[in-house]
Amino acid sequence: MVLSDDTKTSSENGSEIDRERKAFDDTKAGVKGLVDAGVVNIPRTFIRPPGEIAEELTTHQGKLQVPVIDLDGIRYNKLEDIVDQVRAASETWGFFQVINHGVPLHLMEEMIEGVHKFNEQDVEVKKPFYTREPTRNVRFNSNFDLYHSRTASWRDTLAIFTSGTKSLEPNELPKVCRDTIMEYIKEVSKLGETLFEILSMALGLKPEYLKDMGCFNIYGVACNYYPHCPQPELTLGAKRHSDPSFLTILLQDQIGGLQVFYENQWIDVNPISGGLVVNLGDFLQVISNDKLKSVDHRVAANVHATSRVSVACFFTGHATETQKPFGPIKELISEENRPVYREFLVGEYFSKYFSKELEGKSAGLKQFEI
Ligand code: OGA
Ligand code: NI
Repeated sequence: MVLSDDTKTSSENGSEIDRERKAFDDTKAGVKGLVDAGVVNIPRTFIRPPGEIAEELTTHQGKLQVPVIDLDGIRYNKLEDIVDQVRAASETWGFFQVINHGVPLHLMEEMIEGVHKFNEQDVEVKKPFYTREPTRNVRFNSNFDLYHSRTASWRDTLAIFTSGTKSLEPNELPKVCRDTIMEYIKEVSKLGETLFEILSMALGLKPEYLKDMGCFNIYGVACNYYPHCPQPELTLGAKRHSDPSFLTILLQDQIGGLQVFYENQWIDVNPISGGLVVNLGDFLQVISNDKLKSVDHRVAANVHATSRVSVACFFTGHATETQKPFGPIKELISEENRPVYREFLVGEYFSKYFSKELEGKSAGLKQFEI
């Protein structure tokens, strides 16, 4: 998740590393700017602690794969079967890929192309979008947690907020991908609606349940750009984290790099042609009282010559109506199944999530445990 920002520096006096970060930020050119300048040794800000890198070498890659679910079956009275598959994947992996999902293939391709075009245009055209200002609906920057993190990640992000303090106007979007983004959000919203119906059924609730609760609606879209990294073994494209959402629908190109933490190892989420990655966020784990899982994931630094692109749509429901609390769904609570979490406001969760470094999920969810 890369949707927020911060303007504070971690040290009032400004240490040397803070000054380096500020200098990098001031270029407004992101990591792509470093690559374009021919950087061979990545700046210190991006280098992971030696202990973390050493641990990495002992990690084994398994042959396991995230489940792939064909949604075409919905049209052939196979709904029950699909609900079972989604339930099984959501209770274990917290991740699955969908095919025949209804989002037009040409739109997915145009979206990836649009993110390339935005990032690969003249840096002077991109600079006006480079900001950490929370009131802006469209913010381009590198590392939303740049000033709070031990290690920065090798990626740049164009973050789009559809329902901030004022709702998104198409002309706030970069010209090169404006129409595509608007159309893409519309189509992915439809898929999200279907998935929330399936997830409601997977929880034994009526199909409209999660939508009526207000989980539905895309709050933010992160268009991620991962340029080639000259020293990929020293850094990551995105650090280990879980998503602060109910659900995330992710479009990735064919390059690969996304990994999910499953059975104590990192498993590659291999791109499948025409597929979309779906993952459950922290809020769904809370309201399902731990039945469905929000699982940690990360992105390896890009070793390929071509930049990797992904587009994450975060369904966060009542993110702006912060007065409506969310907690474990009453129907799922019983004597044998006591609530694991207290009620929370999405706003309360967000302010904590974005005032610290991006990190693994337990820290995020723990604060709401009873
Ligand atoms: C995210 C995320 C994965 C990717 O933006 O939250 O996990 O493949 N992205 O870019
Ligand atoms: Ni994520």
